[in-house]
Amino acid sequence: MKAPVIITAGAAVAVLAFAARPATVDAQAAGPELTTQCASCHALAKPADATLDRLWTRKGPDLWYAGDKFNRDWLVGWLQDPTTIRPGGVLWFKHAKPGEPRDTIDAATVEKHPKVDAATAARLADALLLLKSGGLVPEGAYKPEAANMMMGKLAFDKLRGCSSCHQGQPGQGGLSGPELYDAGKRLRPDYVLAYTRNPQQFDPHVWMPTQTLSDPDLQRLTGYVTSLGKESK
Ligand code: HEC
Ligand code: HEC
Repeated sequence: MKAPVIITAGAAVAVLAFAARPATVDAQAAGPELTTQCASCHALAKPADATLDRLWTRKGPDLWYAGDKFNRDWLVGWLQDPTTIRPGGVLWFKHAKPGEPRDTIDAATVEKHPKVDAATAARLADALLLLKSGGLVPEGAYKPEAANMMMGKLAFDKLRGCSSCHQGQPGQGGLSGPELYDAGKRLRPDYVLAYTRNPQQFDPHVWMPTQTLSDPDLQRLTGYVTSLGKESK
């Protein structure tokens, strides 16, 4: 990357130069640990070459769109006291034990996440929230008034098969995708909608299928998923 040019005259030029700074530069300035510690396991910038091999060898989920994905309160809490989100780690089949009726996960082989103190967590959360997907998550796509929880639950558990890979309640559902039972705290609704609509926009090789879901279907699924783990359930 080119070193930033110092501009002493001409505010308009300075603004242009600033706009050209990649978000990661600002994020790393706010949270230097991102580069020194977190980047060894997490992609902080969109991979130039999103190959299947890249997906299979990654050590942690991608964070290059963290600013579109997470709720700040959840991030600050989780970074201090991480809990398991992907029961089988980032690549579940590396931890799967074959079994009947279905495979189980050997939890002992899933590594614990590093912890940070409260002040660092707050700083890192702010830094992560600067990382945006660059338009993959249109703001306001989710319309809360259009959601129907009963229909959403039915679509999640039965009609659209989401629960074959995701747990909507602890202990209920598949293990190959991240748990969604606290998605209401963890994830932003517009992100849930965008991801459900087209997971391959986030990674071309991720094994969640793109289904052709209608907008009403996406609204009710998003409404249901983001109600999970909220106090007023
Ligand atoms: C040794 C590898 C490793 C390091 C180092 C690491 N992480 Fe992670 N991180 C993971 C894995 C694996 C997961 C998935 C955990 C799960 O799903 O249960 C994860 C999950 C996360 C999540 C939740 C992601 C999601 O999609 O819900 C965040 C946020 C996160 N890490 C931030 C950080 C930050 C900030 C740092 C640096 C302080 C860091 N991680 C360092 C491996 C790592
Ligand atoms: C074949 C398994 C599979 C099915 C079926 C499936 N998913 Fe997924 N889902 C995944 C995987 C794998 C990921 C990405 C995990 C990662 O990046 O670590 C994912 C990610 C997500 C995410 C983003 C979560 C996050 O932490 O970033 C949402 C939201 C989601 N799925 C919702 C759904 C909904 C709603 C349905 C039903 C319409 C569904 N999924 C069906 C496997 C599946």
